[in-house]
Amino acid sequence: MSVFGPVLERARAAKRVVFVTGAGISQESGIPTFRGEDGLWRNHDAMKLATIGAFEENPGLVWEWYADRRKNILSALPNPGHAAVAELERHVSVSVLTQNVDGLHQRAGSSEVLELHGSIIRTRCTSCDFAQEIPSGLPGSPPLCGCGSMLRPDVVWFGEELPQEVWSEAMSIASGCDFMVVAGTSLEVSPANMLPLQAKRNGATLVEINPDPTPMSSEMDLAVREKCSACLPELVSAFESRN
Ligand code: APR
Repeated sequence: MSVFGPVLERARAAKRVVFVTGAGISQESGIPTFRGEDGLWRNHDAMKLATIGAFEENPGLVWEWYADRRKNILSALPNPGHAAVAELERHVSVSVLTQNVDGLHQRAGSSEVLELHGSIIRTRCTSCDFAQEIPSGLPGSPPLCGCGSMLRPDVVWFGEELPQEVWSEAMSIASGCDFMVVAGTSLEVSPANMLPLQAKRNGATLVEINPDPTPMSSEMDLAVREKCSACLPELVSAFESRN
């Protein structure tokens, strides 16, 4: 019996599937999560590394920390969880709303990925709208934009708003799906954690994939207490068997 047994029929009937993903789906690619026992925020002070105030106060420290994370991310590979999400596109319309900045969904082959919290692979100017993919070799401190201002990692820091167009697109995607898989996220951070309820309000079936419960587990139609790479390939076969 598949772990997705209780929602199999709804999976097979689904027209639009949306994934809301977090650090947990990349954990098996060797990228640390934020709040698990070995999470980044256990050993680093987010307020000193992931806020605009921290960057203004000590741009070199923040830049160096992101450069370090980026090195690890660029050497990481997508895992079977990412691959299953990409594979599902062969059977049904799939959108990925990810909080991750690692680009692994895209590298696994997913074509509809919305990066809610930006991308560590990109920098943007602190004052004009210049942005660029970061070459592998990085200067030790934040380089200057052609306009003379400092460049920063193109990620959303604590206390910063998501880009308006990204958020409204995410809300409309969540509202328009009939099956949402919430995978590898603690759902601790807003506004991303509002997306499952938005989908549910519009009649979607909600599935949570997480070894641990989250504050929204009781809202889920099914909670699969497994790691992403262990069960997501099984979800693909649920959709395959409908063709
Ligand atoms: N498969 C599925 N879930 C997993 C796995 C796995 N292999 N490993 C860990 N998890 C779960 C953990 O139980 C946890 O609930 O993934 C979740 C990771 O939670 P967080 O570390 O809080 O990461 P995330 O939810 O993505 O954080 C959201 O917070 O710090 C900010 O901007 C940062 O985007 C991040 C946001």
